[in-house]
Amino acid sequence: MSDIKKVAVIGGGTMGNGIAHVFAMSGFNVKLVETRRELADKALNTISKNLTRMVTKEKITEKQKEETLLRIQAELNLADAVKDVGLVVEAVPENFEIKKRIFTEIDRHAPENAILATNTSSISITKLAAVTGRPDRFIGMHFFNPVPVMKLVEVIQGLDTDAEVTQTITDISEKLGKIPVQANDFPGFVSNRVLMPMINEAIYCVYEGVAEPKAVDNVMKLGMAHPMGPLRLADFVGLDVCLDILNVLYDGFKDPKYRPCPLLVKMVDAGKLGDKTGEGFFKYDT
Ligand code: CAA
Repeated sequence: MSDIKKVAVIGGGTMGNGIAHVFAMSGFNVKLVETRRELADKALNTISKNLTRMVTKEKITEKQKEETLLRIQAELNLADAVKDVGLVVEAVPENFEIKKRIFTEIDRHAPENAILATNTSSISITKLAAVTGRPDRFIGMHFFNPVPVMKLVEVIQGLDTDAEVTQTITDISEKLGKIPVQANDFPGFVSNRVLMPMINEAIYCVYEGVAEPKAVDNVMKLGMAHPMGPLRLADFVGLDVCLDILNVLYDGFKDPKYRPCPLLVKMVDAGKLGDKTGEGFFKYDT
C-alpha cells in the first residue's frame, strides 16, 4: 500500500477542483495550484459549495466538510507546491504545449520519487512522459465530470510506466472511493474512443436532419437509459473539448470513421461551446 499523504493538484477548473475535493475528502493533504488568486478563490468556493450540497444530502457531516476544506491549501507557486508531495495530478487545459511547460517545471521541483499523473482526456501519456526525466513514474489518471459523483478513474499506462506506479495509482483511486480501470496508451484510451464517436454520430443525426437535438437525446435517455443524452453530454463536456478529442482520434488512427462532423466544427467556430458559453445544442443560464 502506498504511503503517499501529500498531493498537488495543478489547475482549479472543473476537473481540478473536483479532483482536489475527492483527495481531501479521503484524508490527503492537497496543494491546489492556480495561476491567480481570484482563480484559486473561485476553485475553493466551488469545492465548498459542492461539499455543502453533500452535507444537505446527508452524505457527509458539517464536521467532515470543515475537515476536508482544512486539508486543501491554495498555492500560486508551482515549484513550492510540488516540492514535498508524493503525487502530482495535473488538470490544466488540454493543450500539449501548456502541459509540456508545466511538466518540465514540475519535474524540476518535485521529489525524485514522486509520481506525476495527468488527467488528460486525449493527449498521449507516452508523449507527455517523454518531456520529463521520469517516464517510468508518469501515468494517466483520468477522472470524469462531476468528479465527486462519477465512480470511474481510467488509469492509463504510458509505454514506460512502471508496473509499481500503476499499482500505486490503482490503490489510491480505490482509496478515493473510485473504481479504477486500467488501459494502455492509445488515442482516446477506452473512454473517449467509445464516447466521442457516439457523440459525433448524434451530431451527424442533427446535421443530416434525421431528428432535432431534443429528439436525439430522448432516444438515448429513454431507450438506452443514459442519464444525459449525447448532445446534452457534449454541451456538458464542452464542444471544443469534444472536437479536440475527435481530432486526436482522427489524427491518431488515420481512420475516417473518426472525422468530426462539420456541424461540430461550425459550432466551435461560432463560439457555441455548450454550458460554459451558455449555448451549444441547448441553451443555458450562465
Ligand atoms: N459535487 C457533489 N455532488 C454532486 C455534484 C458535484 N459537483 N454534481 C451532482 N452531484 C450529486 C447530486 O447532489 C445528486 O446527489 P443524490 O443522488 O444524492 O441526489 C447526484 O449527484 C445527482 O445530481 P442531480 O440530482 O443534481 O442531477 P442529475 O440526477 O441530473 O445527475 C449527473 C447529474 C450526475 C451529472 C448525471 O446527469 C450524469 O451522470 N450525467 C452523465 C455525466 C457523464 O457522463 N460524465 C462524464 C463526462 S466525460 C468526462 O468527464 C471525461 C472526458 O474525458 C470527456
